[in-house]
Amino acid sequence: MKKLAPKISIVMGSQSDWSTLKHTSNILKELKIIHEKKIISAHRTPKRLYEFADQAYENEINIIIAGAGGSAHLPGMIAAITHIPVIGVPIESKSLKGLDSLLSIVQMPFGIPVGTVAIGENGAKNAALYAASILSNRDKNLEKRLIKWRLSQTKKVKKSPK
Ligand code: RP5
Repeated sequence: MKKLAPKISIVMGSQSDWSTLKHTSNILKELKIIHEKKIISAHRTPKRLYEFADQAYENEINIIIAGAGGSAHLPGMIAAITHIPVIGVPIESKSLKGLDSLLSIVQMPFGIPVGTVAIGENGAKNAALYAASILSNRDKNLEKRLIKWRLSQTKKVKKSPK
């Protein structure tokens, strides 16, 4: 049987970003969305970056979730090369707590958008949920799983604090 192709690529600038982006992967797993994970650095492996972004459409990737920290040009550079939607996750950096990453990712000039989520773990989780919402537009089964996931979250919220 042919293996199903990943719909989402999670791309990170460094191994050190995985502790944040593993949360993206976990939520995608919960929602049964096939995804791949890659380390691609805009400045350390620029050739890898170009090849990945250039082939992403051909490889039938629907959404790219790109996380990077510091002068985080990875999501913007990927978005410059492919028209596939890119969601940027600002990694919490040591020196500036991720404000540098956030501003680098969110302040894309007109013409090349990067959908940007919150800094760190919450952003990483929301990137997965946001990607699932987009894909659920044309996947009824995923839509059902996403609605179920959200309902279960709602049910977990207690009416009063203990
Ligand atoms: C960026 O630089 C990565 O996305 C990472 O967040 C940051 C630091 O990378 P390391 O020095 O930990 O490899 O490229």
